[in-house]
Parts: sequence; structure tokens; C-alpha cells
Amino acid sequence: MLGNEVSCFEAEWAAYCGTLGCAAVANGTDAICLSLLASGVVTPGNGDEVITSSISAGYTALAILQAGAVPVFVDVDRETLLVDPASVERSITQLTKAIVPVHLYGQICDIDAISAIALRHGLSVIEDAAQAHGAWRNESSGFDRIGAFSFYPTKNLGACGDGGAVVSNDMEFIQRIKCLRQGGHQAALAQPITGRNSRLDEIQAAVLRIKLGRLDEWNQGRSRLADNYDQILSSLEGVEPLKRNPRDRHADHLYVVKTRRRNELRAFLQNRSIETAVHYPVPLNHEPLFMLEGRAAADITVADEVSSQILSLPLNSHSFDWEIEAVAQAILEFERQ
Ligand SMILES: Cc1ncc(COP(=O)(O)O)c(C=O)c1O
Repeated sequence: MLGNEVSCFEAEWAAYCGTLGCAAVANGTDAICLSLLASGVVTPGNGDEVITSSISAGYTALAILQAGAVPVFVDVDRETLLVDPASVERSITQLTKAIVPVHLYGQICDIDAISAIALRHGLSVIEDAAQAHGAWRNESSGFDRIGAFSFYPTKNLGACGDGGAVVSNDMEFIQRIKCLRQGGHQAALAQPITGRNSRLDEIQAAVLRIKLGRLDEWNQGRSRLADNYDQILSSLEGVEPLKRNPRDRHADHLYVVKTRRRNELRAFLQNRSIETAVHYPVPLNHEPLFMLEGRAAADITVADEVSSQILSLPLNSHSFDWEIEAVAQAILEFERQ
């Protein structure tokens, strides 16, 4: 555990992300949670609030809860489903300490606007980049803030088991994460914080080092396939792909469309042995645990409406062009009937 392979991977992942440091941890949930704890902005159990998106994997909110804070869910943009900066700003209270924006489906959210809001209100920003390996804003790499990654096997950069990492330019912060991932008792924090066992093992690091060498090539493959989908589906009115912002480099982790006939389309494709999925069927603020332990912004409307319309189509770096074309053609057929 935490041997040479892990140290080498940490150096290589930091270099890839354009940051000075990286701390590898056991999974993406820990990467977010330990970042909140190590940044010292959240006092566990104090009622401190952390704003995040209502459309994300539940793990984003679980990480906030595990850090002893209250997740506050905000609305998303209708065309991209990325967190809406205006909703973030409206949700800030005296208790708000941090923002965890999510680079959902592999696309960078409006991090410039969110950073400006954070600066105005003195908040920390921890980017949930679990789905965004290799996605950059305006083609410029680098996390000025803190980036938290998951290496769950289905991610663009996936291990052969669980894994995660935090990247940052603040080397003291990276050092605190490295203490917290191993019990935490040595961490030089203003107040002692309970650490945990969140180590990455050598086998995962070795696999990640090899796969990192192929990440850009695989991401380019995903983007080409997503472009194919965009092209074939662009003529449709009833099925609308989420907008992929050409200004940024999209990691195309998932290819998601919106349609009011979502369940019908899903069944139609299933009948042709085309598997689809829904990421995510219910906004997090409607999940029982988060209704109890979190808070929903008053202005959530888009997430509520759109979550019943989204469908993730088949896409990964090893898909063939003909497979994507067959799926897209089946959708055209569905629309014609
Ligand atoms: C957006 C997002 N955040 C956080 C996580 C949590 O990562 P992990 O499963 O490695 O704990 C995931 C992956 O499941 C995710 O997709």
C-alpha cells in the first residue's frame, strides 16, 4: 500500500492535471470528503452548509455528509444539466462554507462564474471531477482550486477496483490529505480531525499508470463518437442531446439526451437489445436521506422537470462507429413511428 507505484502515479496525475500536487485515496467519495476536512472550512457537526448540484451521483452529497456538513442542493442549466451559478449564489447563507460543483457527464461546469461567486463570499471550491478526467476549460489545463477524482472502473480513467485522488497547487493541503488518509492523527490542523483508512493500493496505481498513457487517445475516441451522435440526432425535435460546449474540451464520460418520451424510447431500444441507463432518475434533494439531512434551494425547477426526460445512450472509448450509428438510427426509427 502507498508504495512506489502510488508515488509515481501521484506525480504523473498531478503533471497531467497541471497541478503541483496529488494525493491518492481509496475512492472518489473520500477524495471529496477529505478535501472538505483538509481545507479546514467545515467544522463537523456545526451545521456548516456545502452547496452542490441536485443532479449528480449520490456520492457527492454523501461525501459532504461524511465531512459532517449539510449538503445544499441547487438547480442546473437546462441545456447541459451543469450546476447553475445563479442558483448557487441565491442559496448562500451565513452557514455556507464551500461549493462542490460537479463536472457532470465529463463537461466542465461554469467554474469561472462559480469561482467568482466563491471569492465574493469567501467560500472554498472543491471540484467534483469524478466524471471529467482530461476535460479542460477553454483548452487550458490546471486546477487552481481543488479537484477530486474517482477511478471507479467505469470512469474515463478507471482502475481495476476502487480508487480516487485529490489534486491541488497547495502542497500543505495535499500533505494534510496524505495524513488524513492514514488515520489522520499526525495532521497539523487547527483542530484535530478524525482521519480514516483511505489508502490506494499498489496494484490500482500500477494499472492507472498504464492506462493514463492512453487517456487522451481514449477521450478523443469518445468525443468522435459523441460528435457522430450529435450529427445524426441533430435533425430530431423529440430527442435532444445535451449541449456540448465547443469552447471546452469535453471528456464525454456519458452521452445523454432529453426526451419527453424517455421511458418509451428506453423500452424501444431495449427491444433491439440496446442497453441504456438513467443518470440520475431523481434529483438528490428528493432522495429520502438527503431530504432528512440536506436542504434544497427554493428555486429548483429545471432539475425536477428534466430528470424525468434524461437517457444515457451507449458510449465508451471502445465502442465502434457502427454501434453508435446503429443506436442513432434506431432512435430515428423511433421518432418516425
Ligand atoms: C459525480 C461523482 N461524484 C463522486 C463519485 C464517487 O466516486 P467513488 O464511487 O469512487 O467513491 C462518483 C462516482 O461514483 C461520481 O460519478
